[in-house]
Amino acid sequence: MSNAVEEEIVEGDHREISVAEFFEKNKHLLGFENAQKSIITVVKEAVDNSLDACEEDEILPEIHVLIDEIADKKCRIEIRDNAIGLDRETIPKVFGKLLYGSKFHKLQQSRGQQGIGISASAMYAQLTTGEPVTVYSKQKGRPCHKFVVRIDTEKNEPEIIKDEVIDADSNEFPGDKDYYFDHGTTIEMDIEAKYTRGHHSVYNYLKHTAIMNPYARVVLREPDGNKVEFPRVSRELPPAPKEIKPHPHGVELGVLMRMIENSNARTISSFLQNEFTRVGRTSADEICDEAGIDTGRRPNTLEKDEIEQLLKAAQRVKLQSPPTNCLSPIGEELILKGLKKELNPEFSTAITRKPTVYKGNPFQIEVGLAWGGDIKEEGSYNELRFANKVPLLYKKSACVTTKAVEEVSWNRYNISQTGERPQGPLYVLVHIASVWVPFTSEGKEAVANYDPIRKEMKLALQEAGRKLGRYIGRKERRAIQEKKKRQLTAYAKEMGPAIAQLAGDGDSDQIQEKIEAMVQADYNPEQL
Ligand SMILES: Nc1ncnc2c1ncn2[C@@H]1O[C@H](COP(=O)(O)OP(=O)(O)O)[C@@H](O)[C@H]1O
Ligand SMILES: [Mg+2]
Repeated sequence: MSNAVEEEIVEGDHREISVAEFFEKNKHLLGFENAQKSIITVVKEAVDNSLDACEEDEILPEIHVLIDEIADKKCRIEIRDNAIGLDRETIPKVFGKLLYGSKFHKLQQSRGQQGIGISASAMYAQLTTGEPVTVYSKQKGRPCHKFVVRIDTEKNEPEIIKDEVIDADSNEFPGDKDYYFDHGTTIEMDIEAKYTRGHHSVYNYLKHTAIMNPYARVVLREPDGNKVEFPRVSRELPPAPKEIKPHPHGVELGVLMRMIENSNARTISSFLQNEFTRVGRTSADEICDEAGIDTGRRPNTLEKDEIEQLLKAAQRVKLQSPPTNCLSPIGEELILKGLKKELNPEFSTAITRKPTVYKGNPFQIEVGLAWGGDIKEEGSYNELRFANKVPLLYKKSACVTTKAVEEVSWNRYNISQTGERPQGPLYVLVHIASVWVPFTSEGKEAVANYDPIRKEMKLALQEAGRKLGRYIGRKERRAIQEKKKRQLTAYAKEMGPAIAQLAGDGDSDQIQEKIEAMVQADYNPEQL
């Protein structure tokens, strides 16, 4: 018997599991439950990263998604962007290590949060086709790096197969030089996939992305060679989100304990002031007072129950709400531009609410309604759900947006309703922007049903609904008037002679003309 086997027996059945092994077995948690969904997830993770990286440096995004069927249920996906690019040291970790990223530790509005997007896609590629991922990345004024990377799932570490510098001017560099010469990233991977059209599709995901990011130009090449362009209709990016510190009303005990452990502040008072937003000297003193703890104590001398008291005190003390310049809503004007260019509706309206706070986290709600025109009535309404500008295509009924839509009395706004949902040639867009979106799961598919979030959504929908209701109301009234006008004009021919006869000496032609003129000028029932 070998030593290794002996050791395992001694240790029993227990073995540490790497995060990569865990997600390899539980890939459905990250959106890889079947071949149709997985292709959307891969595109989504790459495109989200591209848009995040463009906005970081205020670059107008240019993204190309190229999909080829290379075998039955196997696709090669290539995604190119003109974003800031990645440096040589970072590339293997981003693509070859799960839970590695630049956004997790920042309280800042971004599309990605956990650092488990694109590396999970690379893992899925490797798991289903055995192929590593190829990455080309170039930062401004730097050489272009080409990497071929696979994930060592047992260790959750990258395994570098190729690490080369290539001439960005050469033919080896993929893509259109007009867009990608200076900076950007191209990713290639082979995955098990089923390319389809319909609600759950790459096409729809990109269409929704184009609505919410109308300053991006996105091109899709489908497996049959069909090219779809989602054009850029605005050269203006929304204001870049700013990073903020946590608010005392939004932290939990374990997090506060860790913050205290890592802090090198000399007093509790300075710890509170430095690590949190909206805590000045007066509030710090007030929190300590309320907790019965001396402001001058060294943070690392606090016992667990003292930290708990401090947290409870911080939640009782009245503090200013967190600053909201960390949010980056797209604004009413861009929502309208996005809806108009992709849907061509007869009527559209948008509302951006003021920022507010849930559990210490700032958030902001935006809604848009698009009605009629090219939107055809096909059963119920269409929902466009977004979290930090990212379309959510799945788990509709578990999402707070759907709950909010169902709380609105749509028939008050001249929109018919089946059950609780509106019905008609209608798109309902709902966007939540937040530094920390409370998703219901790792797959980031639905937003949790928190009261303050649902209430804000409902208010925004009602405000937009009123505007749409007024438009439809006017339109319906006008249609009724037109119908009456047509009827009255037809009657005028017979009424003219009849009135003339009644009056005895009237000119029947003149009377007919008068009636017609009156009807055409402005039909007013009171006048007749
Ligand atoms: N196309 C890209 N351009 C620039 N940086 C990128 C790109 N893709 C990924 N990154 C970097 O890699 C990190 C990890 O990406 P990802 O695994 O999707 O996690 P997340 O987006 O949640 O942080 C990002 O935080 C970002 O810093
Ligand atoms: Mg990401």
